Amino acid sequence: MKIKVFSGSHKGREGNTLILVEEFLKGAEEAGAETENIILIEKNIGYCRGKFECWLKTPGMCTIRDDMDDLLPKFMASDIVVFACPVYFDNVPAIMKNFIDRLAPLLLPHFEEDENGEYRHAKRYEKFPKIVVMSNAGLPGQTNFEVESLFFRRLARTFHTELIAEIYRGEGEIFRGKSNLMLKLLLGKYKKMLRCAGKEIVENQKLSEKTITELEKPIVPASLYIKFGNEEWDRLCEENKVD
Ligand SMILES: Cc1cc2nc3c(=O)[nH]c(=O)nc-3n(C[C@H](O)[C@H](O)[C@H](O)COP(=O)(O)O)c2cc1C
Repeated sequence: MKIKVFSGSHKGREGNTLILVEEFLKGAEEAGAETENIILIEKNIGYCRGKFECWLKTPGMCTIRDDMDDLLPKFMASDIVVFACPVYFDNVPAIMKNFIDRLAPLLLPHFEEDENGEYRHAKRYEKFPKIVVMSNAGLPGQTNFEVESLFFRRLARTFHTELIAEIYRGEGEIFRGKSNLMLKLLLGKYKKMLRCAGKEIVENQKLSEKTITELEKPIVPASLYIKFGNEEWDRLCEENKVD
């Protein structure tokens, strides 16, 4: 099974998202998957020009020559693609949205009705990869992912495929904080669940109820995260102050 991750943190390899992705991929690899993690910020990806040239002038191909020439075939050669990114103002960050806009050549221009009586563009290819989404937000709580969850459900519908798993981690800054022994243990437990998720996706193409429940639990109580988080913001404001 081929799994490609498209990682959309603007911080690239420094991102908290990467920590989630790496653990998930460890589990997937242990279960036999062939994986690749593509860091979008390291790629040259222009903005969609919005003129439908990929449907009209060069059907199935964008008229912009950049790294999407390489990424589109990689996307389509996958059994599962993982969209991995932080939450930026309740939504996906610009780099991820830009990448998604550039997937337009994979569809046909023609409209069609789907099985629920909604409309979408017809598919250019018979089979599209299944989708997993992994995201983290700086604030605690699952409500931070409401927009992303709806967005990726709609995206799976648009691309004639299935959203097989959603892994959302609030309290995302916890991975960067100074770690005491207790926190190390809690993070270790969470990372183990991520590896478990990677394995389950390869073996069953879905997550078990137990894994979903464990992954959604707060790592520390929200009140504690907010208290220590604010102390850390104070420290960082002081440290970075320009005289
Ligand atoms: C411009 C911007 C907007 C953000 N908006 C939100 C938000 O709406 N909700 C939230 O919980 N966190 C928000 N965050 C915090 C990030 O989601 C958080 O820092 C995350 O851990 C970053 O992941 P990364 O290190 O992989 O980039 C925002 C961060 C930035 C830079």
